[in-house]
Amino acid sequence: MPYPNERPRRLRRTPAMRRLVSETMLEPRQLVLPMFVREGAVEPRPILSMPGVVQHSAETVRKAAVEAVEAGVGGLMLFAVPEHKDAVGTGAAAPDGALNVAIREVVSEVGDATVVMADLCLDEFTDHGHCGLLTPGGTVDNDATLGAYEAMAVAQADAGAHVVAPSGMMDGQVAAVRGALDAAGHHDVAVLAYAAKYASAFYGPFRDAVESSLSGDRRTYQQDPANATEAMREVRLDIEEGADMVMVKPAMSYLDVLARVRDAVDVPVAAYQVSGEYAMVEAAAANGWIDRDHAIMESLTSIRRAGADIVLTYWAVDAARRLSGAGR
Ligand code: PBG
Repeated sequence: MPYPNERPRRLRRTPAMRRLVSETMLEPRQLVLPMFVREGAVEPRPILSMPGVVQHSAETVRKAAVEAVEAGVGGLMLFAVPEHKDAVGTGAAAPDGALNVAIREVVSEVGDATVVMADLCLDEFTDHGHCGLLTPGGTVDNDATLGAYEAMAVAQADAGAHVVAPSGMMDGQVAAVRGALDAAGHHDVAVLAYAAKYASAFYGPFRDAVESSLSGDRRTYQQDPANATEAMREVRLDIEEGADMVMVKPAMSYLDVLARVRDAVDVPVAAYQVSGEYAMVEAAAANGWIDRDHAIMESLTSIRRAGADIVLTYWAVDAARRLSGAGR
């Protein structure tokens, strides 16, 4: 029997010993902060289901971007809340559309100091809340949607985005976006593909954040939570189509998928700790039921341990400050 010769507790005895043998490193540069910008807002508006997160105005998003860069975060992921939505998401590709204006604002403020990413999807811009264009029968029309994504990608790159992140789970979206960027001369704009994106209940608070009311669900395009092998196929296709980085989303309920993806590919892998993951911890902490800071750091470390090189998290600034402060 190994005991009493083997005593794993020897390596846990002091903080210095634990630091020495720690396997997983978490650094501010690995964190990406998602940010919401509300068109026409004069001051930031709180998002009720995401305490601590706001819909920014043009002015406060600049300030918050500077703060994030000062905290050392690796990148920003921009989302917009447009004033007007319609059936085809017209605002998405318009140069003066809410997201494209926000990209310009942020790039002009911090563009040299960080990586500015843009979510590339129609759901914030459509009145029906789906990620694509609808057929007269009401189903999401894959191939018609690709054209809208192409125009949106070029508009985002024209606005100065360093990375565009197609998140609509349309077949062929990465190839379409890559082709459109190249045709427009944007060879150096990278594509972060939301490759394995599940039809998840954990996006709930995000709907508040972008004021999207969805009719129906997204199960004809986002993945079934029961499937992991299918995620490998989605990831393979996206890399073959030209993705520079791939993402698994949500994070915590899909750590097994994340670990498999990390083992299988040779591009950076991101994971998105989504709005519902954030809200659960904040709500429990507000009730005194969980140690907030501990839960945040444990969850981020777990996502890194499972294989994420990059973690998108609404706690990016908070965590970055803690990491560069007194240590863990
Ligand atoms: C699509 C998009 C969504 C999220 C990120 N990009 C919503 C969805 O797919 O339903 C969710 C992020 C979160 O919940 O934090 N534009």
